[in-house]
Amino acid sequence: MAMNDKLAGFYELYSRRRSVREFSGRHVEEEVLTRLLEVLRMAQSAANRQPWHFIVVRDEDREAFNDIFTKDGFKAAPLLIVACAEPATAWQRKPDGQNYAWVDVTIAITEMIGAATAEGLGSCWVAAIEPVKVKKLLEIPDTIDVVGVIAMGYPNEELRPIEKDRLPLEKVIHYGKW
Ligand SMILES: Cc1cc2nc3c(=O)[nH]c(=O)nc-3n(C[C@H](O)[C@H](O)[C@H](O)COP(=O)(O)O)c2cc1C
Repeated sequence: MAMNDKLAGFYELYSRRRSVREFSGRHVEEEVLTRLLEVLRMAQSAANRQPWHFIVVRDEDREAFNDIFTKDGFKAAPLLIVACAEPATAWQRKPDGQNYAWVDVTIAITEMIGAATAEGLGSCWVAAIEPVKVKKLLEIPDTIDVVGVIAMGYPNEELRPIEKDRLPLEKVIHYGKW
């Protein structure tokens, strides 16, 4: 099938997505946030278990994260989404007991990041946090895992398609067998 405009728009969106670690001071509008949260809610998950919780941190609550982030750029992000997994309610693969909670949370976040990019927002996954500190700060129960914090906000410059540093296709794609 030839590439039509709709399809080209989809691929262009993903070529613009990159990790943003510097943010302008611009506030993220309530209606934009509402659309992003709906994307999280609608995400796919194994057996539709939805083993996730997302904590929206912004305004004065966000100040407390200044001790948690090591990179200064993240401290200027006006909106944080703390992505949490609930393994107890997640689907488990029977033969090896593999729990899919983190996978499901990651899928939801990835979908939200796609939508955020379309909204003109920049975002960055931040896995390098101290989960114990984050749990204490946000009063997250012991049974819940903190998967990561997503720093979000309008970037200083509009996102444009960029060259990405990636492994060549032949290193990662296998046809037929390993
Ligand atoms: C699960 C995950 C965790 C990440 N954690 C961090 C982090 O703690 N700090 C950071 O600066 N970037 C973090 N990143 C961003 C990656 O470094 C980035 O995605 C990668 O270098 C590719 O660059 P790109 O996102 O601009 O395409 C993380 C990304 C993912 C997917």
